[in-house]
Amino acid sequence: MIPRCHPCVALLAVIGLASAASGVISPLPPMGFNNWARYMDALNETLFVETTDAMLAKGLLRAGYNRINLDDCWSPRERLANGSMTWDTDKFPRGLPWLASYIKSRGFIPGIYTDAGTSSCAGYPGAYGYEEIDIKDFADWGFEFVKLDGCNMPTGTEAEYREVYGKWHEILSKLETPMVFSESAPAYFAEAANLTNWYNVMSWVPEFGQLARHSRDTLVWNSTLYWPDITGWDSIMFNYGQELRLGRFQRPGYFNDPDFLNVDHFDYTIHERRSHFALWASFSAPLILSTDVLSLTDEEVKYLTNPDIIAVDQDPLVQQASLVSQSADWDVLTKSLHNGDRLLTVLNKGSATADLTVPWSHIGLTTDTPHTPSKLSIKDLWTGRSQTVDLKRSKGFTARSVPPHGTAIFRISNPAPGSSVQTVPTGLIFNTYSLNCLTDSSSRGGLVTWTNCTTSDSQVWRARDDGTFSSLADEKRCLVEKDGNIQSGECNKRAKWDYFLSGTLVNRDSKKCLTEIQDVGASATSEACGFMTNEQVVALPVGVTINSLADDGSVFDLRMNSA
Ligand SMILES: *[C@@H]1O[C@H](CO)[C@@H](O)[C@H](O)[C@H]1NC(C)=O
Ligand SMILES: *[C@@H]1O[C@H](CO)[C@@H](O)[C@H](O)[C@H]1NC(C)=O
Ligand SMILES: *[C@@H]1O[C@H](CO)[C@@H](O)[C@H](O)[C@H]1NC(C)=O
Ligand SMILES: *[C@@H]1O[C@H](CO)[C@@H](O)[C@H](O)[C@H]1NC(C)=O
Ligand SMILES: *[C@@H]1O[C@H](CO)[C@@H](O)[C@H](O)[C@H]1NC(C)=O
Repeated sequence: MIPRCHPCVALLAVIGLASAASGVISPLPPMGFNNWARYMDALNETLFVETTDAMLAKGLLRAGYNRINLDDCWSPRERLANGSMTWDTDKFPRGLPWLASYIKSRGFIPGIYTDAGTSSCAGYPGAYGYEEIDIKDFADWGFEFVKLDGCNMPTGTEAEYREVYGKWHEILSKLETPMVFSESAPAYFAEAANLTNWYNVMSWVPEFGQLARHSRDTLVWNSTLYWPDITGWDSIMFNYGQELRLGRFQRPGYFNDPDFLNVDHFDYTIHERRSHFALWASFSAPLILSTDVLSLTDEEVKYLTNPDIIAVDQDPLVQQASLVSQSADWDVLTKSLHNGDRLLTVLNKGSATADLTVPWSHIGLTTDTPHTPSKLSIKDLWTGRSQTVDLKRSKGFTARSVPPHGTAIFRISNPAPGSSVQTVPTGLIFNTYSLNCLTDSSSRGGLVTWTNCTTSDSQVWRARDDGTFSSLADEKRCLVEKDGNIQSGECNKRAKWDYFLSGTLVNRDSKKCLTEIQDVGASATSEACGFMTNEQVVALPVGVTINSLADDGSVFDLRMNSA
């Protein structure tokens, strides 16, 4: 059976054409090593040589971790008199061209760091005004990846970041050997009371580079000395939560970056380390280790090189798994994989080992169509063991004995040869500022409200190809817009919606946007569309078609507000 042409596949085809024209530099999320979270400014030639050798010897290169990237503090405090950067010869006695060539000789790709502003975050020279010189030098030295941080910009406006990162993109695109461009710009606009600038920066980074750091750094090794109140787990959950808000931006060739895998941080339990890896893989996020690679135990290397979980990260669709349900103790995520399989990721945020049953419908399965398989094969990606489940005899799948702060991860297949699991985009619709979930409150006369997220069917929305959405609480009704109110009602012409890269869900009939006005109570309303406002930017289940422009190219043109 040929997998049905699902909106995300159609989208992929469109992006595929665009990418072929512009050249895809990194179609899959980068994997490798960076020194920062583990060693900060204490980097040197010996560290990179030994890490490169250890990555090779421990099988990390073979598993896909093929990049070795330097972070801040590799240079002296001043540029050379002629304007070029140079390396700190105490730290790198044989020089960076030698190191880059050593890294390549062992089968890895070398990467370097600089800052878009006048100085780096640690106070080393920044590249502002020296873009042409620095890019040429980095390329001449042999680097093929650059992380451009965003500290110390002259004015720090969104327009300035856009101009400078755009300039980097323009110069980088002229290089003979392409350089992967990692952009830290969004992190400088995160966590604001007004998220418009953050969303706006996120909307242009995919045009310029291959990955972007959207929020905080993961905890550095000795951080608990000066941030005693932040645990390692809080740090993982923080970046995970930021990533969940931004799923719409990810696509082949561009990845949201929730930062390094600092999986050997002393503050983590083994379950937390494994969750860090499994959650990042579920997102198809970059997998850049920032650990003491030499000291990784066999057990740690074994889970970090789990081929089934790496295949989820490196899946050609590179979907970012999205939330199906969320409660105090559990997050459930799902996404599609290129061969028609479905991913199920179950995170236990609670403090005790527990089971969770996830209804088939929550994973996006349509159990009532003629194409629905009667049996599914479910592989536990941690153990590698598969089981066959009869769909008609069970309400859902139970993830058993998930440890506290642990993550269970499953690959669901149709066991009939060459067949896919039939799914439609399904999951939470939430405001990415308030994090409240859109709720079908049928018991309140068909009203749709914004409330705390739960595991209830009334918050799990199924998106259809025709632009309609129904909650699993009542699939005969649709999300409709009527005179400014949002209801669960008749699936008529007011029930069709378009989702945009701006994050707005726009009613096709009225052209108004789904809105959460927090000071008028919890009812969902529709209002004239603004520009990426806190009230109107929502996250939808992965797989819903994302439009970049409105039909008339007006209100939703992301460039509208550019300076
Ligand atoms: C943390 O480690 C880095 C790198 O070794 C060092 O520069 C820094 O001073 C340390 N910070 C503290 C608070 O110990
Ligand atoms: C290189 O860096 C590592 C990690 O910070 C440190 O342990 C080592 O002493 C340094 N070696 C030299 C020669 O500076
Ligand atoms: C500056 O001098 C260094 C060392 O001689 C050289 O490698 C570099 O290309 C020069 N940069 C410029 C901009 O001329
Ligand atoms: C939020 O920020 C944007 C961009 O700076 C601005 O245009 C908008 O007016 C701000 N919204 C509010 C409610 O202050
Ligand atoms: C919603 O969640 C917030 C934050 O966790 C909590 O303070 C509040 O009591 C919850 N409200 C309801 C109605 O459950």
